[in-house]
Amino acid sequence: MPPADTVAFNPFDPAFRADPYPFYERLRTVEPVHVSPLGFVVLTRYADVARTLRGNEFSRDVEANASANQDPVRQMRRERLRQRREEGTAAKNILGLDPPDHTRLRRLVSLAFTPSAIERLRPRVVAIVDGILDRAADRGSMELVDELAFPVPFQVISELLGMPTEREDEIRGWSQDLTAALEPTADEATMEAADRGGLQMGRYLDEVIAARRSNLGDDLLSQLLLVEDAGDRLSAAELKSFVALLYVAGHETTVNLIGNGVLALLRNPAELVRWCDDPALDATAVDELLRYDGPVQQTVRIPVQPVRYDDVDVAPGSTVMAILGAANHDPAMFEDPGALRLDRPNAGRHLAFAAGIHYCLGASLAKLEATVAITSIIRRFPDVALGGEPHWRDRLTIRGVDRLPLTW
Ligand code: HEM
Repeated sequence: MPPADTVAFNPFDPAFRADPYPFYERLRTVEPVHVSPLGFVVLTRYADVARTLRGNEFSRDVEANASANQDPVRQMRRERLRQRREEGTAAKNILGLDPPDHTRLRRLVSLAFTPSAIERLRPRVVAIVDGILDRAADRGSMELVDELAFPVPFQVISELLGMPTEREDEIRGWSQDLTAALEPTADEATMEAADRGGLQMGRYLDEVIAARRSNLGDDLLSQLLLVEDAGDRLSAAELKSFVALLYVAGHETTVNLIGNGVLALLRNPAELVRWCDDPALDATAVDELLRYDGPVQQTVRIPVQPVRYDDVDVAPGSTVMAILGAANHDPAMFEDPGALRLDRPNAGRHLAFAAGIHYCLGASLAKLEATVAITSIIRRFPDVALGGEPHWRDRLTIRGVDRLPLTW
């Protein structure tokens, strides 16, 4: 039994999955630097999370820098990945790299994702969303996740990359298997499924990349192929793993921003009406939705030198879990954090996209897609309401509903 003044961080508790915020709050109050019985350090204060994401004393390369820990499943997976890397069939993706490799890769792609480059996609995003809503309008109902929240980001990232969209269902399955492995609770079967998903996605990308190489267009994949051809700046394995990440990140997360966002508004009808009536909120309201219930709840960093939080010393190689969702509800940063306030003046300081060098590359794209999707729904169908019980995905790292029936 833990002593009465400590909190067990138990991600298996179903109540935690349904609503993690009260747990975060208790942890932050009682033990803000929590050393879990499983050996990792859990951070819930905004200041600690921000410092960890921004600090040079931390690595994102878990594979290279995390001490061989007690977890045999992860060790096995690491070993398999290492072998595939040695064979040259896999490369770490940008999210698992430290400088200088991280800097080199990020520079190659950042231009395609600047706010102004993304803004040029707006008419296309509007057209995709309008098409979906046109088809559903007379019906008076839709299942938001399958009909809109997933297809919109999927279509947009596919077009941006110049990917065919015919195999949508299979690709969605592989992505879901891959992201399941990000869960701290992933077991061996989940890791096996992720490996299989990764291999199938890899084979598919090989086919698409080979076809594009002989028929370049004006899409992002063609631009990256030109960079790869130009010499030693981007290897073939890096290119493939980067495209896979964009593809997965491009539609496994935004779907949840749209789903969680619409649900938050339906549960806070005064805010929904306010946004519907006030287009001035379009530029910023989605930041408050990201703060309030963001799709990525946590990430990890590995200290590469000794670090200290309060009186807790953390050794190099330890796993530090930065709970983004908890930081975003820290009252030391956000007044009355449990309230959804679309005009919250400092909502933009949320950490839902992390911070520092790995700050989400797709942040502008995700915000554009979610803003267009949500404002189109609430302005076209101002009487939109829940048409049944929402269902939460059984995930912790990536948080979102997988079923959200709407009526109007
Ligand atoms: C609401 C939607 C999204 C959320 C909440 C989100 C969240 C995040 C977070 C928290 C990170 C940093 C993780 C860490 O530091 O450990 C990240 C990184 C990243 N995201 Fe997103 N993301 C979203 C959408 C997207 C989209 C649409 C794309 C691409 C089209 C994308 C591409 C990336 C990439 C490439 C990285 C790695 C950046 C780097 O390592 O430098 N994300 N994202």
